[in-house]
Amino acid sequence: MEYDVIIIGSGPGGYTGAIRCAQLGLKTAIIEKYPTLGGTCLNVGCIPSKALLDSSEHFYNASHTFAEHGIKLADLQVDLPKMIQRKQDVVDQTTKGIAFLMKKNKIDTFSGVGSFVDAHSVKITKADGGEETIKGKNIVIATGSKPSSFPSMPIDKKRVITSTEALTLQEIPKHMIIIGAGVIGAELGSVYARLGAKVSFVEFFDSMIPTMDKTMGKELQRAVKKLGADFYFNHKVTKVENKGEEVEVSIDTPKGEQITLTGDYCLVSVGRRPYTDGLNLEVAGLQTDNRGKLEVDNNLRTSVPHIYALGDVIRGAMLAHKAEEEGTFIAETIAGQKPHIHYRLIPNVVYTWPEVAAVGYTEEEVKQEGIPYKTGSFPFKALGRARASMDIDGLVKVLAHKETDEILGVHIIGPRAADMIAEAVVAMEFRASAEDVSRMSHAHPTYTEAFKEACLAATDNRAINM
Ligand code: FAD
Ligand code: NAI
Repeated sequence: MEYDVIIIGSGPGGYTGAIRCAQLGLKTAIIEKYPTLGGTCLNVGCIPSKALLDSSEHFYNASHTFAEHGIKLADLQVDLPKMIQRKQDVVDQTTKGIAFLMKKNKIDTFSGVGSFVDAHSVKITKADGGEETIKGKNIVIATGSKPSSFPSMPIDKKRVITSTEALTLQEIPKHMIIIGAGVIGAELGSVYARLGAKVSFVEFFDSMIPTMDKTMGKELQRAVKKLGADFYFNHKVTKVENKGEEVEVSIDTPKGEQITLTGDYCLVSVGRRPYTDGLNLEVAGLQTDNRGKLEVDNNLRTSVPHIYALGDVIRGAMLAHKAEEEGTFIAETIAGQKPHIHYRLIPNVVYTWPEVAAVGYTEEEVKQEGIPYKTGSFPFKALGRARASMDIDGLVKVLAHKETDEILGVHIIGPRAADMIAEAVVAMEFRASAEDVSRMSHAHPTYTEAFKEACLAATDNRAINM
């Protein structure tokens, strides 16, 4: 069988690319080694983590904030197996939805491990050992990523776990030690802290989510601290040992002392690595760089021009919506169109509460690049809508060019920041100035008024409600 496009991997990049290929009239096949479609994001990433974040937030609010709303509840309990089952139901519905979309768009789906036979042929090795080889004029590698670790912290999937196991725990940890206070640590740490676990973060750098604007990390730490978390910043893990019912984590402090933390689970969330195992890249004339990534040009072509790559397996942010844009980009490129992705305007969201969301330059980046800038901030506690819902933690921070007033970056920590950031993306795609946004009517009372107020603050300090 010969296809116009074969896609290896059915994550957000692969399945979006497949649908766009089919829409453009290209005969398309998709290969997935897992029993369900949707990749990391739908099966063990974005969707299940958000399902647990929502459930745990309901519990936290019921036990901590309902009383202040005048709602009395007694004898609250968590049924974790039920919570985990609901999460799985959401995952199952979502992955079935992708299978439906493949059928609807007449995309041939192959279940098994894809590996190159030559630069135009891919063999599918099925679970029962059966093999089938298909040919493609174009091939897209969309094989994603896997959790990474260090030799000092061997994952045993029982006590020393990754995000995948943390999404299926059957008991609430007594003490979860989290190595890495990045996105996964912040999100899954929040889940278990809200459910009553003691959570300790051990982080190599000096703050949570250290790659985002520094203000965000500081504010997030304050919020997560309220859940009872401890932080060991600038600390270095030297050894992680499974002691049966307990885990011991040995750590070097900044002063050069040695301390040991003991918990019942250790979540290793120190980043993810691109995944190309078993693809047999060499026979197609491909190789990865020294960090395991596939190199691509501006058109997402590898060194073999009819073989493309996208998503977590190439450079750039490891985000589902980035992979999706790239899937669409490749499909349209193959169809002869001239698509474009504005990488700097891909938003970044952390689904804690308050949520953190950002787009564009951080303050550290504009300083480093010597771009003249000004800032405007507005705290949620000054907003009527936020007081009504008791979500007063956080702020909106806008960076604008000092001379032109063009918005360079927007950083939000606060209620519904994940949804609010879309307005900033639209404004920046159209190269709006802070004054442009400050002159647009924002419905009252909404959280989005905080963005308008921050833009007012960025243009001659004109915020109204502060
Ligand atoms: P993947 O989704 O990793 O999919 C790759 C697929 O390829 C997999 O299904 C794999 O089985 C398959 N595959 C690999 N090799 C082969 C082979 N040889 N043959 C056949 N199939 C193969 N991102 C966000 O934007 N928002 C979030 O809220 C978010 N939350 C996350 C939460 C967690 C806990 C994790 C771990 C990640 C999260 N991410 C989130 C990141 C997001 O999941 C990834 O960026 C995204 O899934 C990458 O998409 P992809 O298409 O590149 O690859
Ligand atoms: P991350 O890169 O966000 O965070 C890893 C953290 O671990 C960093 O703060 C780093 O300084 C720290 N670290 C690294 N080595 C360490 C060590 N030896 N000791 C102590 N700390 C160490 O990676 P994370 O959280 O594992 O997530 C992987 C990726 O998955 C993210 O980068 C993101 O792209 C994606 N993701 C996205 C989400 C979202 O969009 N909401 C949610 C979850 C994951």
